[in-house]
Amino acid sequence: MDLEKQIYVRKSCRNYMDEEFDLKIIDEFMVNVKTLNDNIKYYYKILKRDEVNLRTRWSAPYYLALFSQIKDNYKENIGFVFQQLSLYLQSLGIGSCWVGMGSIKEKNSEFVILISFGKSDKISRDISKFKRKSLEDISDYADEKLKPAQLAPSAINSQPWYFKHSDEGFDVYQVQQNIIKRQILKKWNPIDVGISLAHLYVANEETFEFYIKKDFEKIKGHTYIGSIKI
Ligand SMILES: Cc1cc2nc3c(=O)[nH]c(=O)nc-3n(C[C@H](O)[C@H](O)[C@H](O)COP(=O)(O)O)c2cc1C
Repeated sequence: MDLEKQIYVRKSCRNYMDEEFDLKIIDEFMVNVKTLNDNIKYYYKILKRDEVNLRTRWSAPYYLALFSQIKDNYKENIGFVFQQLSLYLQSLGIGSCWVGMGSIKEKNSEFVILISFGKSDKISRDISKFKRKSLEDISDYADEKLKPAQLAPSAINSQPWYFKHSDEGFDVYQVQQNIIKRQILKKWNPIDVGISLAHLYVANEETFEFYIKKDFEKIKGHTYIGSIKI
């Protein structure tokens, strides 16, 4: 199971086949998933297309509905946990896509976001096809170690992550959006940052640690999220 390899070929899948497969693989994978913060309870449900409301022009045979207790960093945690699953599904030929433009029909105040998934033959691409900010733009100085984070998916490809080098790894920030973009993205950008941290974890499984500093450097136009050792 080489999840790191998937980072360099993955893409959001919006084109699915109506083929069934054994959904048990999801529960099995989730038993060993890593969290950013063990103290935040979360869970998921697997739903069929007719159990969700969509504002996308495409749809998938299955949707994961993600739920969480509302605590500090709960959205980062959801992004972090379920991006690992997305990379795992990709390694099995199952495509997925985070879906901000959708909700569940059931009323549940712990609902966070959907992920569509299903069998697909359109799930990979060449590295040259990724549209991303440069490594210089996402850090105080360009560093190849950040490549996995650079390639992470994000809402409307907003890529709201910024990394500042520290003695042990990086301090992680979320870029504050301008007033127009903020309306749409404030809901999703913390999830995006968690997704980028999942990519750094998968690429540095042995050493990765997430923690929160009490005295971090303030950077104008950025919100401090936490720090990582890698
Ligand atoms: C939190 C989040 C929400 C997203 N919501 C949608 C969505 O509602 N509809 C959609 O087509 N894509 C959605 N996406 C996929 C992004 O558009 C996609 O990740 C981005 O454009 C980069 O492309 P890539 O994932 O193929 O690398 C979402 C991604 C994230 C991380």
